[in-house]
Amino acid sequence: MKLLFIGDVVGSPGRQVLEKVLPGLREQHAPDWLVVNGENSAGGLGVTSKTAKAFFDMGADAITLGNHAYRHRDAYAYLDDEPRIVRPANYVKGNPGRGHTIVEKDGARLGVVNLSGTVFMKAARSPFSEADSILDELAGRTDHVLVDFHAEATSEKVAMGWHLDGRVTACVGTHTHVPTADARVLPKGTAYVSDVGMTGARDSVIGVRSEQALESFRTQMPVRFETADENPWVNAVLIEGRPDGLAASIQQLLVAP
Ligand SMILES: [Fe+2]
Ligand SMILES: [Fe+2]
Repeated sequence: MKLLFIGDVVGSPGRQVLEKVLPGLREQHAPDWLVVNGENSAGGLGVTSKTAKAFFDMGADAITLGNHAYRHRDAYAYLDDEPRIVRPANYVKGNPGRGHTIVEKDGARLGVVNLSGTVFMKAARSPFSEADSILDELAGRTDHVLVDFHAEATSEKVAMGWHLDGRVTACVGTHTHVPTADARVLPKGTAYVSDVGMTGARDSVIGVRSEQALESFRTQMPVRFETADENPWVNAVLIEGRPDGLAASIQQLLVAP
């Protein structure tokens, strides 16, 4: 089993570079599953039914989100109705959408879980206990499980890797938009990376036009942020799953079009 996971796709430059690069990645790696983090896919912040459908049209099996999940109100009903899209599970119960899902294809079942960190971020419950209760619920119902841990602090992400080691196929970090160089299979068999990175304009400040982000830091005055489009890349990881539900390998893919 091979799973291709795409880091935070930022705006139309991100969607376009993904569409351009994906056929080559499919040819080279032949992934069975494609999961995309789409929390920045609509104009740089949030998701809409339009951007989600664009990913499904590209062949995505599931979409994960993060702290921008609720940016667009008109997507709330879609989050409730579309079972292949997940927002952080440890948000307030009763908020739109779901935190985990099971997608099925060719007789195989993939559990997809989205969790939010709590260091410098807001969530209703601890991602650690939330992960425990979701894994209880998924027990015996999946062949492989992917956790997208959307978090700011590397310490919290590394800790989640150890918490989930031997219990899920992969725990991949998202949100910082900067890929980390620590991808590996942990000792008990879980593929782990602190951050997959961003699919979008590389010549930017995490997806925002550099001059605008710089002006904000220099002047500490309000600045209008726009999504950058210079030099877009795809940041992803390829995970190879074992028949026992754990991982054989994880490979970082940083791809220019
Ligand atoms: Fe993001
Ligand atoms: Fe985020």
